[in-house]
Amino acid sequence: MSSIRTRAAVAGAAALALGTYLATAHADAATPLHAAAADSAVTPATSYTAAQVLAGVKQNSTAANQVNTKPHINTMTRAQNVNVYQVATGVYAYTSSMAIDDDGSDPDPDPDHQGDTTWHDSNGKALAAHHVPFYVLGDDCWDRKTPCPHFFYKEHGMSGRQFALMFYNGKVIGSIFGDTQTANNQTTSSNDSRELGEASVKAAQLLGIPSSGTTGGVDNGVTVVMFSGPSWVVNGTNANLNTNTQALVQKALDSLGASMAGTNPPPSGTLFEAETGTLSAGGTFDSNHSGFTGTGFANPANAVGAYVDIPVTAAAAGTKTLSFRYSDGASAARPATISVNGASHGTLNFPVTANWDTWSTVSMTVPLKAGANTIRVTGTTAVGDANIDSVTVS
Ligand code: GCU
Repeated sequence: MSSIRTRAAVAGAAALALGTYLATAHADAATPLHAAAADSAVTPATSYTAAQVLAGVKQNSTAANQVNTKPHINTMTRAQNVNVYQVATGVYAYTSSMAIDDDGSDPDPDPDHQGDTTWHDSNGKALAAHHVPFYVLGDDCWDRKTPCPHFFYKEHGMSGRQFALMFYNGKVIGSIFGDTQTANNQTTSSNDSRELGEASVKAAQLLGIPSSGTTGGVDNGVTVVMFSGPSWVVNGTNANLNTNTQALVQKALDSLGASMAGTNPPPSGTLFEAETGTLSAGGTFDSNHSGFTGTGFANPANAVGAYVDIPVTAAAAGTKTLSFRYSDGASAARPATISVNGASHGTLNFPVTANWDTWSTVSMTVPLKAGANTIRVTGTTAVGDANIDSVTVS
């Protein structure tokens, strides 16, 4: 059960109050919440930032990936311009408003506050909007059709407390499916189940969005990325559901980042193709496996110490993240030492990929000087390096 207040009236007042704020707030902001470690140690091989994953989600939000055939309604503005995209297997994303849902077991002065939520905590208690970050989806299929012309959660392996990443203004949080938008038979407001763009007080607070149930919210720029399937249902009580949900954020970023890496160009940053570099004896630049960017990839020789040198440039000196796009279709990882301008910065692991046509990304931070730098990737085992497609500097 969702709050029954009429959003249109609220939206007008909120838009007025938030005019200045909205001028600067946008989900494209690229400040990662999980920035890579600032030292030159090797970072975990699969640590994706919020900015990288959001960039991948936007790249995959294409007409070909659109799930709904009729547009959803932005809960705050009422515009019928919200679509849902399958951005990876079982992962669905939309960008819309955030109207504030203050329902649940936590009493609220909002006169429209309702005491219950559609989904409950693991003890069967109504979720508390001030304590649990939750998002709201349509309660039913508005058209009464199967398949539903809109995104209807029941058709996509989703149920109560289903995990989602929620991005806004450079931040990312975890949230759960907690409440539903008014069903077809609702007569007391203009709301209906085609709406997308409402979340709880706690979700707004965590993202820095005004969280009042009557005057809060934001008209657009909130991206919700929902992970379907039973393994992404979050258990817990009103006291610990927020903690349990935030604990899944990095796992979700890494899982989605990895699953998008094979189908997309690398995330934002400045990309340098390995084929612009040079190889030690016996290496070749090849194009016989699909999925590379540019004109091919480096296939260094199968020998200890075989390397590829990749020229990169940096606008200013500083600690940068190097993200290597690579493929290793063999049966064992191919670790390599990474050196910059002749100085080694340690060994980076290149874990196996499904085959030589599948590309993944590993990264580490290194100091770069302003202008031209040479990145050397040197295989430490008898099979040499993985195939190296590119390095992105960010
Ligand atoms: C295969 C694959 C090459 C790869 C090589 C290797 O031959 O086609 O692209 O470089 O294995 O093990 O290094």
